[in-house]
Amino acid sequence: MQIARTKQEVRDAVAAARSEGLSVGLVPTMGALHEGHMSLVRRAVEECDYSVVSIFVNPTQFGPGEDLEAYPRDLETDAKLCEGEGVNLVFAPSVEEMYDSNSCTVVSVKGLTEGLCGAHRPGHFDGVTTVVCKLFNIVQPDRAYFGLKDYQQFVVVRAMTRDLDIPVEIKGCPTVREEDGLAASSRNRYLNERERRAAPKLYEALLAGARAAREGATGREVERVVAEVLGQEPLFRPQYIRAVDPETLTPLGDSSGPMVIAAAAYLGDTRLIDNVTVEG
Ligand code: PAF
Repeated sequence: MQIARTKQEVRDAVAAARSEGLSVGLVPTMGALHEGHMSLVRRAVEECDYSVVSIFVNPTQFGPGEDLEAYPRDLETDAKLCEGEGVNLVFAPSVEEMYDSNSCTVVSVKGLTEGLCGAHRPGHFDGVTTVVCKLFNIVQPDRAYFGLKDYQQFVVVRAMTRDLDIPVEIKGCPTVREEDGLAASSRNRYLNERERRAAPKLYEALLAGARAAREGATGREVERVVAEVLGQEPLFRPQYIRAVDPETLTPLGDSSGPMVIAAAAYLGDTRLIDNVTVEG
């Protein structure tokens, strides 16, 4: 497995793969790989002839006071995990390699980025779409793999790809969970023992909301059910709980029907997000 530090190395390696007629898959990550990432990696390796994993803690998607400095970084372990799954290339650029010092272009998706996490993390999705667009231009993959735990990110990246005519198929992959239901996340390692025990309540609350939705509850009623169940765990400080249309991400309010129930909540200093989808 090759580890590339520069865009040129990636371009050369992918060009060589393409010249052999191989299809190319990309899994964009910020490293600190866990089972959620590895499920994306396995799928890329399975579905594509040549698979690339990017590992880059992207500063432009972190706001002031967020965990950019504390974000876990362990390239050696990450690279071993990728190699073990048969990844062909890991792209691990520096910030200077990724962003030109005169960089002045931002890729910004409107509307879809305004609610949910976007309402609480100003500029976050601009950082995500800008770096993902750059990664798509560097790697030029046929397929790119994203976890549905970050549902809003998935929808936003899919819209960007459609609107900018980027020839890549966006694949959304199911959330991977610990045995007790907690969604796999690089930030779970910030939790202390007491917080870790409390953490599965978030998924339990979302499941209660999903049951209410299937029984015909409106978006607003579903949000109330989720808030009630989450409120049983005093360590949680909810940031938002929303039942939204799966395509437009607009809140359902007094309507019922297919929905994504999404929530963000703090456990101590750690911000967790999760969601469940209720089909029609
Ligand atoms: O989901 C992530 O880890 C990041 O937002 C991504 C897609 C790698 C962009 O930096």
